[in-house]
Amino acid sequence: MQNLSQVLASSAVEDSLQTVLIQTTDTCVAISDVLKQGSLAGILGMAGNENVQGEEQKKLDVISNDMLKDALLACPEVRAIASEEEEDIVPANTKGEYLIAFDPLDGSSNIDINAMVGTIFSIYRQTGDNPATEQDFLIPGKEQVAAGYVLYGPSSMLVLSTGNGVNMFTLDPKTNTFLLTEEGVTIQPETQEFAINMSNQRFWSESIQNYVNDLVKGKEGNRNKNFNMRWVAAMVGDVHRILCRGGIFIYPWDNKDPSKPGKLRLMYEANPMAMLLEQAGGKAYTHTDRILDIQPNAIHQRVAVILGAANEVDKCLSY
Ligand code: AHG
Ligand code: MN
Ligand code: MN
Repeated sequence: MQNLSQVLASSAVEDSLQTVLIQTTDTCVAISDVLKQGSLAGILGMAGNENVQGEEQKKLDVISNDMLKDALLACPEVRAIASEEEEDIVPANTKGEYLIAFDPLDGSSNIDINAMVGTIFSIYRQTGDNPATEQDFLIPGKEQVAAGYVLYGPSSMLVLSTGNGVNMFTLDPKTNTFLLTEEGVTIQPETQEFAINMSNQRFWSESIQNYVNDLVKGKEGNRNKNFNMRWVAAMVGDVHRILCRGGIFIYPWDNKDPSKPGKLRLMYEANPMAMLLEQAGGKAYTHTDRILDIQPNAIHQRVAVILGAANEVDKCLSY
């Protein structure tokens, strides 16, 4: 079985990008090790801080952020990083060629119940003579040169695209390397499975309410087929299920806080997942736009997300 370095070396991926990817994924292996220790390492529970988005930070949000931050700032190829857990972008090496945005720990409310979490990352190539600024990061997702996530579940898995399809790797705990276990992942255009947090139903737009009502009516409604529902409460877990067996994932706009266009973050949740989804033949939209076309206006910008099986995303948008 080929390992990640071998797969990258035999691809058209530039050496400098390979270095950044290895540095990122090696750090995820270290995060996976920390997660495995759970309570034994005294790392569960709250950190006692709030991040820039007013969300309480778990100790592991902070630990995994520090691990990725330290590793990437030390990497000469990295020009700057942006993280869910950092208010501002952090410049690294002015001469570096890559900008990396990441969610160090996605689904952190799952930590205390020993359920799936992950790290999501998005990489752009961008150069300049001065230290990077937030403005440099505001590039539409279609310009990503690589995107991926590491899912920490019963096994740890890396799912990666460098713009030429999607590959899945499984972490071999004996050698601490990612081995290629699925090449050229594709998502079927049709599905009978959806993922949405139904407790927000009363806050959704009328169109999303109508769409989900029709899914729930199943065979008795105008869709003429039954739908199953799943919600991991970690985007990384829900997207992984869709890449494995299809489905649609929706975190729509809701009127709980009309100033927020959605819960999920464009730069380090929606964009990298949208690249993976499209590379696997699926679609990723807000209520109106292709996610990868959005011109970002801030690194912590939020967006509505509708992604998954191509025909089902189209169906949802038709409402
Ligand atoms: P994070 O832990 O990085 O803040 O992200 C959590 C996100 C996403 O992973 C998940 O899909 C969603 O929040 C879950 O939201 P609910 O709490 O509404 O289930
Ligand atoms: Mn997240
Ligand atoms: Mn997070």
